[in-house]
Amino acid sequence: MKLIGSKVIETERLVLRPSSMKEQKRLWEILMIPDVNKWYLTSAKKHANNPSHWTWDNQEKFYKSKVDNANNGDVFCWSIFLKKEYTNSKKEEVIGQVSAQEEGEDITIRDVGWFIDPIYQGKGYATEAAKSMIDYMFNEVGINKISSSAVKDNIGSCKIFEKLGFIKIGEEEKESPYTFYDGTLTLSKYELDKEDYSSIGYQEYYIESNGKSNCVVRTLCKILDKEYEEVYNELTRLANEENASYNDVCVFEKYMQKNNIHKISFNEDIRVKDLGLDNAAYIVLCYDKKDYYHMIPIINNIIYDKNNDCINLYVVDIYKKH
Ligand SMILES: CC(C)(COP(=O)(O)OP(=O)(O)OC[C@H]1O[C@@H](n2cnc3c(N)ncnc32)[C@H](O)[C@@H]1OP(=O)(O)O)[C@@H](O)C(=O)NCCC(=O)NCCS
Repeated sequence: MKLIGSKVIETERLVLRPSSMKEQKRLWEILMIPDVNKWYLTSAKKHANNPSHWTWDNQEKFYKSKVDNANNGDVFCWSIFLKKEYTNSKKEEVIGQVSAQEEGEDITIRDVGWFIDPIYQGKGYATEAAKSMIDYMFNEVGINKISSSAVKDNIGSCKIFEKLGFIKIGEEEKESPYTFYDGTLTLSKYELDKEDYSSIGYQEYYIESNGKSNCVVRTLCKILDKEYEEVYNELTRLANEENASYNDVCVFEKYMQKNNIHKISFNEDIRVKDLGLDNAAYIVLCYDKKDYYHMIPIINNIIYDKNNDCINLYVVDIYKKH
């Protein structure tokens, strides 16, 4: 595990940054909303009924010490900023927080937490932030496991665990650990092991003798483990039959059919990096939402391409090798 701290993470709609003082007051305001803190805040339970403890004047010093430590390598806590094009004010806004804190003595096992400003809930922002944080924690920090829980009735939070592939390992009845919530609660417990986490990896791949061009031929070579000339000649023959170029969709689709590679359906408007594929061989046709189209092989969740720029392209079609 590498103690590299909370580096900036950018997603399609969000930027996750280590805590700084400029957004802490707004985060405190969000956290003071009962629907946000009810099943989230676990600090200073003894002060629950002491309103003066929770004023900004009194809280500011805690937030200052949090910010003082924000860039330490062993701190994994991000303020979530919504890019200006998605905010109501049309300026970048802080909308919540995600974190991956220690869970016990083994620092490679982390607990995770998140909250989002109610104004911006229900738009997929928590899922987007959590996924990018979890990718970072597994792929870059190198943790081994996430072990976490949510109140069973906290449907939004439980759904995030489930959408990100966590396994529900059980339920636990316990006295509320939450500052502003008393009584007995049922917690749903979730785990995700490094081995079970499927995010898309990348390995450099191109055919030296033919430079870095011809993504269609290159992709088919990789998926079918064939020589460049063989694939190219067959595509050219089919192209002549169809009176088309070997790059045309009708030509490579015919070639794929002959080789038992078939189109599958998928959720539209998804980027390559967000694909949740199982361990099999796939061909992905993707584009930049303008006029650049590209084809890549993804085998066992590894992209084989000349560089990894393609992870930000949008998926047009997916074909699976049977
Ligand atoms: C939990 C929380 C972070 C979710 O934030 P969010 O940005 O609304 O989450 P998303 O939009 O990514 O939604 C995730 C899923 O939960 C669903 N969801 C979110 N809030 C929900 C609610 N109140 N009731 C039912 N479903 C809900 C969404 O529809 C989505 O499911 P879908 O993809 O099937 O449509 C937010 O409600 C929150 O801040 N709660 C208070 C703090 C908290 O409890 N944190 C978690 C402690 S474990």
